Amino acid sequence: MKKLKIGIVGVGGIAQCHIGGYKKNPLTEIYAFCDINEERLKSQGALHGVERLYTDVNDMLRDCPELDAVSVCTWNVAHAPVTVACLKAGKNVLCEKPMAMTVAEAEEMKKAAEESGKLLMIGFVRRFGKDMEAIEAFKNDGYFGEIYYAKADYLRRNGNPGGWFCDLKRAGGGPMIDLGVHIIDFARYVMGNPKPVSVYAASFKKLDRSSLRTTAGYVSYGRESKEINDVEDAATALVRFDNGAVLNTETSYSLNLPEDRTEIALYGTKGGVSVKDDLKFYSTASGYMTDTTLKFDVSLAFQDLFQREIDHYVACLTEGIPCRSPAEDGVEIMKILRGAYESAATGHEVLL
Ligand SMILES: NC(=O)c1ccc[n+]([C@@H]2O[C@H](COP(=O)([O-])OP(=O)(O)OC[C@H]3O[C@@H](n4cnc5c(N)ncnc54)[C@H](O)[C@@H]3O)[C@@H](O)[C@H]2O)c1
Repeated sequence: MKKLKIGIVGVGGIAQCHIGGYKKNPLTEIYAFCDINEERLKSQGALHGVERLYTDVNDMLRDCPELDAVSVCTWNVAHAPVTVACLKAGKNVLCEKPMAMTVAEAEEMKKAAEESGKLLMIGFVRRFGKDMEAIEAFKNDGYFGEIYYAKADYLRRNGNPGGWFCDLKRAGGGPMIDLGVHIIDFARYVMGNPKPVSVYAASFKKLDRSSLRTTAGYVSYGRESKEINDVEDAATALVRFDNGAVLNTETSYSLNLPEDRTEIALYGTKGGVSVKDDLKFYSTASGYMTDTTLKFDVSLAFQDLFQREIDHYVACLTEGIPCRSPAEDGVEIMKILRGAYESAATGHEVLL
């Protein structure tokens, strides 16, 4: 079988996980790189043996009509323009999370995919974990009953990544759009992707940790010589869905809590689950309260998570299997995220 020719746009940190995934997939070859940072572009080209190098995505698309698919791994601000250009040129796209900066951009991307007949997959990588697989198995067997409430927290005590992540113009927001996107999508996906109808949120910008003396900081990977930090430190939101279910979420880059904490809890009429490094299921049986843990390791290395995501994307393209992470879900998550920022700014509930 002919190998799919892959282009990577944005060859920074997360692109390494995409590149690693394609390299291990026998049905793909990495064909071209694009990055506005010429120095990085050249060094990445040399590192991975890729010779077709471009600083402008339109040049890449013009020079490489034979490209089959693209991974968009740029700063958030470039997701929409790059994705739309690729789709319009007839390429399939896997776009990193968050889908875009705004709902209008996300809708434009979805429309471009529909008009081109190409696949637009969104990189909701946590959908591809072994923990998700186990939860889905329990769910399909009716373990949870109706899931009516979820709590999803992704809290860092001192985890401001710096660089473009904290520049509103390039990131579109702070921990809510960057971290919240993962856990909101995880919870909503398990709930069966209900339609969000309203959001009520608050955000805070109180802490400056740039000069903090600590050995226990977050490893920053995007530091720039002139640091901008105009995103929130922390945000919380309450999301209502059309089936009556509610999601309560908290996110932070900086917050005075004892230690970093990521936990998603889903509560159903028959049972619940808590997702941390491992899974704990809670239910009742024969008149007793029961806790269930798996005699199976659901943890996955970061790269393996991406391997599963990339392998799925390739299988969608080569075998035509349904996409587990389609553009329409990206649009709904953007509605929640932008609604949360609007609510935080106005102090009012936002109807979506
Ligand atoms: N799925 C995950 O768990 C995960 C983790 C980290 C980052 N991400 C996402 O991946 C994306 C990239 O994050 P990162 O950590 O790799 O950032 P990064 O800064 O390391 O890399 C981004 C690269 O994109 C390039 N770039 C920016 N605009 C461009 C454009 N218009 N055309 C071509 N190249 C452009 C930059 O020069 C940079 O090299 C972000 O959207 C981020 O939210 C996802």
